[in-house]
Amino acid sequence: MSETKKIAVTTPTANYFVEIGTGLVAQVGARVDALLGGGLKAGRQKVFVVTSPEIWRIWGQQLTSGLPVAPTVLSVPAGEQHKRLSTIERLLEELAEGGADRDSVLIAFGGGVIGDMTGYLAATYMRGIRYVQVPTTLLAQVDSSVGGKTGVNLAAGKNLAGAFYHPLAVFADIDTLETLPAAELRAGLQESVKAGIIRDRALFDLMDAQSDAVLAGAKAALAKVVADSVQMKADVVHADEREGGLRMILNLGHTLGHAIEAATGYKTLLHGEAVAWGMLAAVAIAKRRGLVTEAEHDRMERVIKTYGPLKRFEADPAELVALTAKDKKNRSGARSFILPKGIGDAVVVKDVTVDELTYTAQRMMAMVAKEGVA
Ligand code: NAD
Ligand code: GLY
Repeated sequence: MSETKKIAVTTPTANYFVEIGTGLVAQVGARVDALLGGGLKAGRQKVFVVTSPEIWRIWGQQLTSGLPVAPTVLSVPAGEQHKRLSTIERLLEELAEGGADRDSVLIAFGGGVIGDMTGYLAATYMRGIRYVQVPTTLLAQVDSSVGGKTGVNLAAGKNLAGAFYHPLAVFADIDTLETLPAAELRAGLQESVKAGIIRDRALFDLMDAQSDAVLAGAKAALAKVVADSVQMKADVVHADEREGGLRMILNLGHTLGHAIEAATGYKTLLHGEAVAWGMLAAVAIAKRRGLVTEAEHDRMERVIKTYGPLKRFEADPAELVALTAKDKKNRSGARSFILPKGIGDAVVVKDVTVDELTYTAQRMMAMVAKEGVA
C-alpha cells in the first residue's frame, strides 16, 4: 500500500477523518477494528457490510481478507430506484435477524446510493449505531461519503427523507475506481470541477492542467483530485454542517441539474452529467451579471466540457424553469441559486429572475442541440 492522506472532518456533532490512497480496501478491517478498540477481533462486536452484488463480486474478497471476523453481507441491487424506505425496512429487519445490537458496525461499500442508504440505516437502527463509508465511485469519494447527509428518495423527489448522521470514518481507495465505468468516472469528476469553481482555484487549475492524466485514471492525479475535493467539502461542512448558508454553495449547477433530471425522468443522464449542464447554465448567468469575466466564463465552460461528454437530452426550457421553482433549497417561495464569483468563489443569490433563467435555459438547450453527445 502506498502512502495515504488523512483529512479531518470536524463539525459541531462529529469528528472523523477521510483516508485516501491505494490498497485501502484490504486495510479497512484493521482500521475499523482499531477505531473500535479491538472489539471485532475480540468477538465483542459484529460487522455488517451493505453493498450491491456487482461491487461485492469485484471487491468483496479484498474487504473480507482484512476483516478480523466474517461479516454479514446485506445486499442491495444497484440503482437509484432501490434508494427507498422499503429497502431500509428490509435491511432493518435483516439487521435484527442477524443479531445486530447497539455495538454493531455497518460498512457502506459502494457508490452514493449504498452510502446514503447505509448512513440512514445506521441512523435508524436502535436509534443509531456506528458505520463507516468505503466509497467506490468517484462521486461518493469526493462528495456523498463526506458530510453526514444520509437518506432515501420519495415519490415526490430525491433525498426527501433522511438524517444528518456522520460516519465513524471514510476510506476512499483510489484502486476501486479502476473498475468504475468511464461515464461514472467523468460524471463524478464534474463534482470536483464544481469544487474547484466554488472554493478552490488551485484545484480548478489542476483539473484544467492535468485533465489528460485524470481522465486516463492516473492514480496519483486522481488521489490529488479526491483529496483536494474532500478538503474543500470538509471546510464547508465544518463551517455550516446543517446547510444554513455556506453549504448551499455545494449545489452549484444542481438547481437546473435537478430540473433536467426531473424533466428526463432520471433516466437519460447520470447526476454529474446533469450537473455539468447546470453549471454551464449558472456560469452563463454569472457572466451576464458581471460576476465572472468573459475569459473566466470561457475557461470554466471549456473545463466543464473537457470532463464531459455533455450528453444530449430533450426538454422544454420553460418546463426546466418551472421545475427550478420546486428546488429543495428554495425557502418561502424564493429561488436560491448558486453563482460563481470569479473562479474559486461562489455566492448564493435569491433574486435570480425568470427572465435570467429563461435566457440561460434557452442558451443551454441550443448548446444541447449543437454539441450534445448521443
Ligand atoms: P451509484 O451509487 O448508483 O453508483 C453508480 C454505479 O456504479 C452503480 O451501478 C454501482 O453499482 C456501480 N459501481 C460503484 N462502484 C463501482 C466500482 N468500483 N466498480 C464498478 N462499478 C461500480 O451512483 P453514485 O454516483 O456513486 O451516487 C449517486 C447517489 O449519491 C445519488 O443517490 C445521490 O443522491 C447521492 N448523493 C449524496 C450526496 C450526499 O451528500 N449524501 C451527495 C451527492 C450525491
Ligand atoms: N452534496 C451536497 C452536500 O453535501 O451538501
